[in-house]
Order: sequence, then structure tokens, then C-alpha cells
Amino acid sequence: MSDLILRNCRVRGESQPVDIAITGAFIDAIAPNLPQQGVREIDCSGKLVTPPFVESHIHLDSVLAAGQPRFNESGTLFEGIQIWGERKPSLTHEDVQQRALAALKLMAAHGCLYVRTHVDVTEPRLIALDALLELREQVRDWMTLQIVAFPQDGMYSRKDNEALLEEAMRRGADVVGGIPHYELTREDGVRSVQHAFDLAERYDRLIDIHCDEVDDDQSRFVEVIVAEAIKRGHGERVAASHTTAFGSYNDSYAYKLLGFIRRSNVNFIANPLINITLQGRMDTYPKRRGLTRIKELWQQGANVSLGQDCIYDPWYIFGTGSMIGVAHMTVHVSQMTGLQEIDACFDMISVNGAKSLQIQDYGLKVGNPANIVVLDAPDAFSALRYQTIPLYTIARGRVIASNTPAQMQVDIS
Ligand code: FE2
Repeated sequence: MSDLILRNCRVRGESQPVDIAITGAFIDAIAPNLPQQGVREIDCSGKLVTPPFVESHIHLDSVLAAGQPRFNESGTLFEGIQIWGERKPSLTHEDVQQRALAALKLMAAHGCLYVRTHVDVTEPRLIALDALLELREQVRDWMTLQIVAFPQDGMYSRKDNEALLEEAMRRGADVVGGIPHYELTREDGVRSVQHAFDLAERYDRLIDIHCDEVDDDQSRFVEVIVAEAIKRGHGERVAASHTTAFGSYNDSYAYKLLGFIRRSNVNFIANPLINITLQGRMDTYPKRRGLTRIKELWQQGANVSLGQDCIYDPWYIFGTGSMIGVAHMTVHVSQMTGLQEIDACFDMISVNGAKSLQIQDYGLKVGNPANIVVLDAPDAFSALRYQTIPLYTIARGRVIASNTPAQMQVDIS
């Protein structure tokens, strides 16, 4: 007898439907027509059953804060930074936790159970960091939360920032962040990347650097990250986030860089919802898309995963918590409309994200935690085409969210 059995599940890569049996918090069997009974059984009717989605990049300290104290009418990065600067002094522990928890619940209901959040550690009280470190423990039995210590204003732009970053590592941040393109000089930017690698080695942590999130074709810090990863030899523990300037590099440089990237094993994390709206704002026409070369990175064999970056905050007014929505946007803005390419975009919000976050026990396998999502679609293509909402989200063997799909009725004779 198992605690829960999902019957008739369509699983990517399997030729015929399977049953999945769960005991306690773990998957204990996967096979067609399992003979045992479950205390509870769910008939999945041939729907796609998948490991949970992975949010590779979000800022939970600023989610659900749009309009506080005012809305970003110009839609620019700079007005967003200005508004956030006005909001930051009123941050409290409870305020950050409440908004972050609401966003995590929204994401869980959309089938996402692994989240990497950046948190601004240039705020001298480290209020948001402490709030999210505590929240990470509170949600541990249904959500895996990774916290990146992110020096939003630059590591070297104010004298205390370097020390605050190290303090964040001491307090338990999982990942070292950086923002080299926003340091005062190119030299400071290079130094900041090297320092992030040093800290990661000293504290045995991962690395995820906001990198080249500008339209400037001379912003070239991906090459610094890649070089450090090649020389130090642990590129799979490193991620370069945003990298939007990559879309503006000349092809000769870009293709040379793609070769180095392949050697480095560095993960790339793109945020198409926000960057398609935020970048290219200084352009008239032709107006650049301001996105990294998602398709070319994928074609070169680099690991690419996706994030929302923002949900209803000073930089991005929309956002639902849906990673399917992010993949849907990626198909459009990266022109990945071939069938294999659409499938690859589904990978970018699932298995590739798990690789970026270095999740070791991810996937539908016997012995793994029973983290499972039942989608209202027969396959990944349909899930993206219809932007499906999950029927069930199961975390550590427990059904923690369910949705009833809307019924459309057409009465035209
Ligand atoms: Fe970001």
C-alpha cells in the first residue's frame, strides 16, 4: 500500500503512460499499471506529469511592491531603481517575508518548487537578507529556496559593500552574487568577479552574477566570468544572469565567446519577460530586443535556464508566478519556434534550471523526493501553447495546490 498513486501519467521520454507511487515524502515506484493500491489515488488521464518547474532568477525582496510609493511610468530601469530607493528605507522583516511568501505560494500553485532568489545586500541593515534566510527554513518542507547575496549597488561603489557581502555569506547565503557592469570602472568590475569566485571558494558556495544587463556592446564581463571558470575549473557551479549585452555584440566576438563558454560549463540564466520590456529603451528604431543569445547558447550546448526576475515590482508591472509564461515568452522573443526548440524552452524551466541551481535529487526517479506536477496538457508543446496551469502540485508527497481549469463553452450553431 502506498500513500498516493498517480495513475496513467504521461511522462516526457517514456513511450507509454506510467503510474507513480509515493510513500511518505518519496517516490517508491514508477511503472505501467502498478499492482499496489494507494490510500489516495489520482487518475491523471494521460496528462503530462513532470518534475516541478525551477525559477532560476527572481528578486523576492521587491516582489509585489509595485506602486509603493508610486508606479514606474517611464518603464525604465533607472526610474525603477529610483522608486526602489524610495521604498527601501521602509522595508521591515515582516513586510519582506509576507510579500515573498505570497509570491512563493503563487509560484507553487503554478508548479514551481525550486526558487533561486537574489537579495540586495547593499542595504546596510541586511533586513531583507535576514527575512529571507528565515523564510528559507520556514518553507523548507514544500519549497527549496536558494538565496543569492546580491550587491545591487556594486561591491566597490561604497566602502561598506564588500564587507556586507561577506557578512551575508557568513549569515548563510547559498550563492555569491555580483554586478560587474554596474561597478564604477571596468577594473572594479573585473575585480568584483574575481572576488566573487574567491568568496565562493572560501565559503564553499555557488556563484550567480548579474552580468552585462545593459545594451552596451562594450560591456564584456561574460568573458571575465568564463575565464575565471575555465582557470579555476568549476564552471558548473557558476551562473551568468541576464547577459543582455550579448545580444548587441558583433558576431565575430560573439562566436569566439561562444567557444569559450562551451569550454567553461558556465550556466546562463535569461529573464525574457523583464528584459524585453526593460532593454532597448534608449534606442529609437531599429529597436534591439535586449536579450542574451538564448538560441545560440542552446545550440552550442550551454546550459540555459530561465527566470521571471520580477513579479509586480518597480521594474515590471505584470507577473503571475508562472514559469510556463516565461517559457512561452522565450519561444517568441528568441524565435525558438521549431518543435525541438519549443521542447528546449520547456527544459529551460525544468531540468536545465535544476542544473543551474545544482539540485542533486531532481526528477521523477525512484528514491527522489516526491516533487511532482500534473499539467492539464498531454505534452510539453500543448502546455506551452495553451499556457497551462497545473491541476496538482505535489511537494514531498503532499498535494499542496490544485486548480480547476476554466471551461469554455461556445454556443454558435
Ligand atoms: Fe535580476
